[in-house]
Formats: sequence, C-alpha cells, structure tokens
Amino acid sequence: MATLGNLVAGVAHEINNPIAFLKGSLNNAQDYIQEIFTYINCLHKYHPQLAPEVTNIAQEIDLEYITEDLQKLLNSMNLASERIEEISASLRTFSRADTLEKVPCNLHEGIDSTLLILKYRLKANDKRPAIEIIKNYSNLPKINCFLGQLNQVFTNIIANAIDAIDTSISGQIFADIPAKSLEINIYTKFLTQEKMIIICINDNAGGIPEEIKNHIFDHLFTTKEVGKGTGLGLAIARQIVEETHNGKLTCNSTLGQGTEFMIEIPASS
Ligand SMILES: Nc1ncnc2c1ncn2[C@@H]1O[C@H](COP(=O)(O)OP(=O)(O)OP(=O)(O)O)[C@@H](O)[C@H]1O
Ligand SMILES: [Mg+2]
Repeated sequence: MATLGNLVAGVAHEINNPIAFLKGSLNNAQDYIQEIFTYINCLHKYHPQLAPEVTNIAQEIDLEYITEDLQKLLNSMNLASERIEEISASLRTFSRADTLEKVPCNLHEGIDSTLLILKYRLKANDKRPAIEIIKNYSNLPKINCFLGQLNQVFTNIIANAIDAIDTSISGQIFADIPAKSLEINIYTKFLTQEKMIIICINDNAGGIPEEIKNHIFDHLFTTKEVGKGTGLGLAIARQIVEETHNGKLTCNSTLGQGTEFMIEIPASS
C-alpha cells in the first residue's frame, strides 16, 4: 500500500504541471476568442453588406450557433480543469499518510477525499440515479493515525455499500427507482469520556443474509463474481482498524433494510 500511495502521490504531482498549463491556455484562448468576436462584430457594423460567399459560409457552419456554443464549451472546459485540480489535490490528501509514524490527522479530511475519489461511482448512470451521500459530522479532535490506511478502510466500506446498492436495484428499471432513494449515510461522533471516535457508514441496500454475516471479515470471503471482488476489503479494513489503530470495526445489518459499519478508534491510538 505504501508503494501504491507513492505512486498515487507521484501521479497527482505529475498531473499538476499540464493542468496548470491547460488552465492558463484556456484563459488566454477565452480572451483571444473574445477579441476575435469584437473584431467580427465591428466588421459587420461597417460592412453590413457581405459578399455572398461569406454569407454562405456563415450559413453552412451555422455561425450563430457556434458563437453561442463556443462560450459554453470554454466554460465547461474551465470547470473540467478545475475538477482535475480538485481530484489531484484529493489524491495527494488521500495518499498523504504514507508516513512511517502516526501523525495527527483530521479524519473528516480523509473521508472527504475518499468520497471524491469514489465520486465517479456515486453519480447517476444508465441503470440508476445518483447515490446521495448524507453526512453528519460532529466536532472531532485530530488523532494520531496512518490516514492513508484509514482512507483505505473508508474506501473499502463505501465501495461495498455502492456494490450493495447496485446489487439491490439490479432487475429494476431506472424509471421505477425514485431519485434520492439511494443513500449512504456517514456520521461521526466523539465520545468525550471514553475519548473514542466513532464513524458510522450505512447504506439502505439489501442487507446481509444471516448465514454469511459471520464470514464477511474472513480473508478471501466474497459473494461477488470472479473479477469483481477478491474478498479482501473487509479483512484488511479490520486489520487496519483493530491491529494498527487499537480500535474496533463492527457490522450491523438487517436483511432488506441495510447495513451499517461502525469504526471505533481511541483518540489516543
Ligand atoms: N454494505 C454491504 N451490504 C451487503 N453486503 C456487504 C456489504 N459490505 C460487505 N458485504 C458482503 O461482505 C463480503 C465481503 O466484503 P469484502 O469487502 O471483504 O470483499 P468484496 O467486496 O467481496 O471484495 P473486495 O476484495 O473487492 O473488497 C462481500 O462480498 C459482500 O457479500
Ligand atoms: Mg469490498
């Protein structure tokens, strides 16, 4: 995982230069295009009678539409490059905890960067509307931890919740799934007396059948098809929470209603 963390941080770093260039160029392009439009408008003003060849070309290329659409395109390109910047920043936060020792971290930052990484899986697709993330964060103290590893825990649990939601709606047609009906709730609490941080992640997917509940944390236990799941996610998550951070990772699930994973980490772990 440390190697993967370095790789991710390296990639994020490498993306920064071309993206800065792209943003700068887009800004210049926007200015230039504006100037060209000013020129064309001025030309029209003093030469309203254009040669037929010129008017024909304007019609052929649908100049009016292009002019309008070009602005929209440039705006979208700007938004897209800002988004890449955000992702790159998140990748860096996400991989930051490749520290040799535990360092004080804000767990909410970890959860948020994980959510950004998983955003592409949460958004609407041709099978279902978007999955809503409902966050209820309390005030958490910073704790000494390996944030990169805890991010891995959040990723595994949230990815499982998304898989479970996708499975629970399979067979239903899109139009029958109400918008905002697919949810993942994340709430955090700090128990001041016990000095314990609690993070709960729950989904409203199908829940876990009784007969497999006792196996979900086993190494290589998976109910997913070959190529989709290796059955390592929760085993690794439990190891990170319980062995590396002296905490507890538990699951509470009701068939047909949903599943909740609770992460408890002592603030002095
Ligand atoms: N939120 C959930 N809802 C329903 N079932 C779940 C949920 N989370 C985990 N499971 C069950 O627990 C099993 C083990 O999960 P785990 O994350 O360890 O492995 P996996 O997701 O199958 O594979 P991967 O190694 O890719 O994570 C899953 O195959 C699934 O059956
Ligand atoms: Mg998994």
